[in-house]
Amino acid sequence: MISTARIETLSFDEAVARISAARDFRELGEKRAFKKWAKLVHPDTVGVARQATATDAFAKLAHLYKRAERAPVLHGRRRTYRMDHLQASGDLAELYVDGSVLIKVPRSAVDNDLMETEAATLRRLWSEGDPKFRAYAPRLIESFICEDGQRHRRRVNVMEYQAEMITLAEVGLKERDPRDVAWMWRRLLTALGWAHRAGVTHGAILPEHVLIHPEQHGLVLVDWCYAGHRPAAIVKARLSDYPPEVLNDRLAGPATDIYMATGLMTRLIGPRMPAPLRRFAAGCMYDAPRMRPQDAWALLGEFDELIHRLYGPRKFRPFVP
Ligand SMILES: Nc1ncnc2c1ncn2[C@@H]1O[C@H](COP(=O)(O)OP(=O)(O)O)[C@@H](O)[C@H]1O
Ligand SMILES: [Mg+2]
Repeated sequence: MISTARIETLSFDEAVARISAARDFRELGEKRAFKKWAKLVHPDTVGVARQATATDAFAKLAHLYKRAERAPVLHGRRRTYRMDHLQASGDLAELYVDGSVLIKVPRSAVDNDLMETEAATLRRLWSEGDPKFRAYAPRLIESFICEDGQRHRRRVNVMEYQAEMITLAEVGLKERDPRDVAWMWRRLLTALGWAHRAGVTHGAILPEHVLIHPEQHGLVLVDWCYAGHRPAAIVKARLSDYPPEVLNDRLAGPATDIYMATGLMTRLIGPRMPAPLRRFAAGCMYDAPRMRPQDAWALLGEFDELIHRLYGPRKFRPFVP
């Protein structure tokens, strides 16, 4: 976003370039900046040689402005959110980005309970969890009920938007050196260790719920709708990623997260798993949850030792998705 004062200093060519690159009006600044842009590229204010370029730029400018004016908004308690930038369609919600926040709106009021679980879980992570690890989950900004034209009341959660991150679903599967995945595995166990100590189970450690920052090796767990000992739903498209206790008994605990995280990391590495790592993973994926490790922190210690035995001291390896 460009400041209104700065617009006046742009040349005609710079103004045209910025307008043609903009995907929505906000990239051009605040609404009141419209007049300043219009002055720069209005066909009446330029010479003959620039008429055609100016006409195109002005038309695009007017189009972006009108679209921004018409964009639907949601009234939260803290402020109003704009819904003109659809970022993702999840299993139950549409997610919009407005600046630095993400607005998660369920498609149906039937899923309000799941949205409530997410809000309550994020609050609990903040109140009960060690503040040192807050970067592993998105901050909840607010949660409120909105009523639409048909008087359906839906719960909306507004969260911090992780702009630079990609999901493991986007990273996709290919054969990988375990050393390239080790940092993710460690971060995942850290996130789980943090959540479990706060009394929270995630319940759906799936590729689309793990966001990573490839260069900085950051990791954030999203979609806390399925948290708790009795997850209210299962992601149908990912049935084969779940352990038996969820599929058969709708029960989840720390060992459920450990099973799902291990399966996810194992699939990400693919067939090039050294035997000791394969044994480690198998020990985390027994059918009976009691047989699996229960403590993600302790498991992280074991994982570190194993990786050290296999590959020596840790070295930073840039991750190429
Ligand atoms: N805090 C966030 N920052 C950036 N992207 C996010 C964030 N939360 C969710 N997403 C994106 O939106 C998608 C759907 O979000 P999710 O919470 O799983 O919705 P649903 O509950 O409908 O499945 C995720 O897979 C991810 O791509
Ligand atoms: Mg989801």
